[in-house]
Amino acid sequence: MNHFLDIHKTDPADLRVMIDQAGEMKSARAGRPKGSPDDDQPLAGRMVALIFEKPSTRTRVSFDVGVRQMGGQTMVLSGADMQLGHGESIADTARVMSRYVDMIMIRAFDESVLAEMAEYADVPVINGLTDRTHPCQIMADVMTYEEHRGHIAGKHVVWTGDGNNVCASFLHAAGQFGFDLTFTGPPQLDPQDEFVGLARQKGSRITIERDAAKAVQDADLVVADTWVSMHDAQSARERRHNMLRPYQVNAALMAKAKPDALFMHCLPAHRGEEVTSEVMDGPQSVIFDEAENRLHAQKAVMRWCLGV
Ligand code: CP
Ligand code: NVA
Repeated sequence: MNHFLDIHKTDPADLRVMIDQAGEMKSARAGRPKGSPDDDQPLAGRMVALIFEKPSTRTRVSFDVGVRQMGGQTMVLSGADMQLGHGESIADTARVMSRYVDMIMIRAFDESVLAEMAEYADVPVINGLTDRTHPCQIMADVMTYEEHRGHIAGKHVVWTGDGNNVCASFLHAAGQFGFDLTFTGPPQLDPQDEFVGLARQKGSRITIERDAAKAVQDADLVVADTWVSMHDAQSARERRHNMLRPYQVNAALMAKAKPDALFMHCLPAHRGEEVTSEVMDGPQSVIFDEAENRLHAQKAVMRWCLGV
């Protein structure tokens, strides 16, 4: 039994198997209706709980559809509606849920909720985003990059804006997949040293560059995310916007990257804030492939977790 908690906690060889299998599974069902079953039904007879302490469109729908395509069943639960939100411990919840379901995907605020769930569950637990990381997103991002441009190893990814949870998983992936990453954003929002240090230890070149125009020179991939995450206080919105405005990804900035650079955003995006519509809908953007690939990448993650 494998938990999928973070990219740096997963063996690079296993990550490679998942990315490749995701691509194969995507090709195998190309053109079929979304609700039709895959030829293989590795999750037949399995029940998967999808628990959300925070809102979600992509994670919720892609996990639900992915389980069903592979022959399994799902239940989608809101953390607030469970006893979890009313004082029952995470450990007890994990032990109880393990008697009913074969796998748990959880989107949580605090990372400790995920960790405790994994510690006490007898079934695999998948991280569907916490305040600190978002590994499923980056599996889809690596898959999407490789689908368009070949292996990501040795490439140069530029993260713009807030050094947040998605940025942290990108840094984990830099170490595991062997690419370099430049962070460009204000010093107050730098990614935590821990994430930068881990990637450097694994041999990735991690650069902090305050000037966005300089940062994107030689970029193979430019990435943006929202300036105010779900775990950020809404009261900080204006201050964050003021700090982050110089890091907007617009056509002028993209023109400074390599001509074949791609643009990604995990979505939801705020058009006209961290990225302009011109870039989102432009020829370098692969945001909707990226969203689709959540489905395929997570199907491979779930198979790995269950060993099926
Ligand atoms: N990218 C992502 O995780 O989207 P949702 O918040 O809609 O799940
Ligand atoms: N950084 C964002 C990602 C949403 C998918 C957040 O945590 O709100």
